Amino acid sequence: MNLQLPNEIKEKLQQDAAKRLENLSNEYKELIGKPGYTAPDTALIEDAVIALALGKNVLLKGPTGSGKTKLAELLSNVFGQPLHQVNASVDLDAEALLGHKTLSYSEGKQEIEFIPGPVTRAAANGHFLYIDEINIAKPETLPILNGMLDYRRTIANPFTGEVVKAQPGFNVIAAINEGYIGTVPLNEALKNRFVVIEVPYIQGDTLKEMLENQSQQKDEEVLSKFVQLSSDLIGQAKAGHLSEDAASIRALLDAADLSVYLPAKRAIQRAIADKLEDARERALVANVAATLFA
Ligand SMILES: Nc1ncnc2c1ncn2[C@@H]1O[C@H](COP(=O)(O)OP(=O)(O)O)[C@@H](O)[C@H]1O
Ligand SMILES: [Mg+2]
Repeated sequence: MNLQLPNEIKEKLQQDAAKRLENLSNEYKELIGKPGYTAPDTALIEDAVIALALGKNVLLKGPTGSGKTKLAELLSNVFGQPLHQVNASVDLDAEALLGHKTLSYSEGKQEIEFIPGPVTRAAANGHFLYIDEINIAKPETLPILNGMLDYRRTIANPFTGEVVKAQPGFNVIAAINEGYIGTVPLNEALKNRFVVIEVPYIQGDTLKEMLENQSQQKDEEVLSKFVQLSSDLIGQAKAGHLSEDAASIRALLDAADLSVYLPAKRAIQRAIADKLEDARERALVANVAATLFA
């Protein structure tokens, strides 16, 4: 991957990454993501890198299985920055973000110890924080993060009474599943604090290249058919005939892998169709598959 970056940014990045790596513990080195994201256009990665280098928070917006998590890992890799992850869910609360208190024993005495959560750890160490599916979190949880996301870069930890100040290098990457058919919108105050990078499903030659790299299926002709299948399924999803999950690149990759050992139509049934609730949608996937595979 050859990124076209402004020289100042490139130099700063290389210097910072080298300095950071020297001082990282092995535990934190393991949190640095792997490359492996294939971009539809390198500008997508370049813009995200520039935004992060300028200290902005980045919101990755795209349908499920489009590579948002992979991209966050790549960004962590480019910066040599450990990535602390939070998976948002409806029961995400302040403790899951900031940390919790627990009883511990020290020299025979009982003590209350604070175990820092991902936000506190990322901030205190100047690392990256990745919040997956941020739009799923309860509306009352996320405002906890507001202070950390704007120029203040601080957060009051209600569990310790401390004010946590983010160290230089701290940055937030968040992901939101936003498909063609509509999702839970993200609160405006929060959206305001991010630079948005759209992460679409990769298609055509880019998808073919990714499949060649990642799939166990190595047959060129079969892979080309899977690329066509993806395009057909996305078309059906955009037209509202199929739920978005049917078009996920993750599911496509599963089907391609299975097709090494199963007939492709059955692989597609297992990896894509049978996950769908609606019988008509399952039939539609089977029909699309039948037009491509014997
Ligand atoms: N653009 C892409 N580049 C590389 N891998 C991808 C890409 N899109 C999808 N994938 C594959 O699909 C899987 C799902 O990607 P992921 O990053 O978890 O998606 P998301 O976070 O958007 O749901 C990954 O494991 C990866 O193998
Ligand atoms: Mg993800």
